[in-house]
Amino acid sequence: MSLVMPGEVLDVNDVALLADDQRAVDQRLACFLADKERTADSPGLRSLVVLLRECLVGGKRMRPLLLACGQRAGGELGPLTPGAVNVAGALEMFHAFALIHDDVMDDSDRRRGHATLHRLVAHRHRSHPDAARFGLSIAILVGDMALGWSHELIRTADLTAEQSAAAWQVFNAMSTDTVAGQHLDLLTAGTAATSVEQAMLITRYKTAMYTVTHPLRLGLLLADANHRQLEAGTELGTALGEAFQLRDDLLGVYGDPELTGKPTTDDLRAGKNTVLLALARRHADAQQHGLLNTLVGSPDLDADGVALVRDVFDATGARATVERMITQRRATALALLDTGVFHPVGERLLRNAVTVATARDH
Ligand code: IPE
Ligand code: IPE
Ligand code: MG
Ligand code: MG
Repeated sequence: MSLVMPGEVLDVNDVALLADDQRAVDQRLACFLADKERTADSPGLRSLVVLLRECLVGGKRMRPLLLACGQRAGGELGPLTPGAVNVAGALEMFHAFALIHDDVMDDSDRRRGHATLHRLVAHRHRSHPDAARFGLSIAILVGDMALGWSHELIRTADLTAEQSAAAWQVFNAMSTDTVAGQHLDLLTAGTAATSVEQAMLITRYKTAMYTVTHPLRLGLLLADANHRQLEAGTELGTALGEAFQLRDDLLGVYGDPELTGKPTTDDLRAGKNTVLLALARRHADAQQHGLLNTLVGSPDLDADGVALVRDVFDATGARATVERMITQRRATALALLDTGVFHPVGERLLRNAVTVATARDH
């Protein structure tokens, strides 16, 4: 499910380079978990390792990919160093933690085309007197484990003292930003919020920072990038990260579940305060408001209901506005790449990342 494709932007060498990076990160994670499984002396730990391994399967590996792009943008052109591979692995491990806990908080059934971890465990233990709660509890534990092990991957990374200090600083900021974003997301879900600014804030904190801004900065810092590159990388990361989540919001309602691996009912049933919904509420007439109030937030919302909400999103112009917001952010990101501040190889890799992350269907 990679986002790396040869074509207009990338040549075959670029694709081979990024494929090697991805393989190195996946291998590092596989070895890390195999080690944990082999040396596990706490009773029952092995079964949790097996569950975490299942959670790491699939996924686009956006965060390690962006770290790799950042390293080349900062002028470090070789393969990822073992230290960088560990940090990239830590990003994917942190992402696993974020998704496992997010699926608990969002009460989601599906992730990456399979049952979410808490549902899977509940099903496997269906004879348990409270199987649903048992599934939730185990998912919380596996998520905790992934977060702890993301730190271990950084702590054991072969980095210089400066690189290590920079990696910790970014990683800690990333954790705090993500928690703050998830908190805002939960606070406003189910309310009739119409503030696009607030929905954008959630977008930035819950996703953009940990998906794009911080991974890109980590790659730049590991390459000892200069101040101008770091500034441009942060600006680019925010624009691309916001566009990534805005696309996710559209895919969450209009996407093909076969491709996204997630249903189109999750955000709407939970009444998630997405930019898309905030815009629709802001521009809805009385009848459209009535429809949104009845359908959004309803736990029974079905495919017919989703179709009606889509009609409101289309008719109010909310969908078109979100598409326009994505286009604007893509343009901002590409303009930053045109300034020539980054090394040309990294610039090319980032151009591909911007294109595919904003136009994706999964
Ligand atoms: C999903 O992230 C959660 C968000 C932050 C929107 P991804 O779309 O990167 O998920 P995977 O890793 O490819 O499954
Ligand atoms: C994405 O959450 C942010 C994190 C996982 C931290 P969402 O709830 O918006 O993403 P999906 O739709 O479940 O992937
Ligand atoms: Mg979710
Ligand atoms: Mg969520």
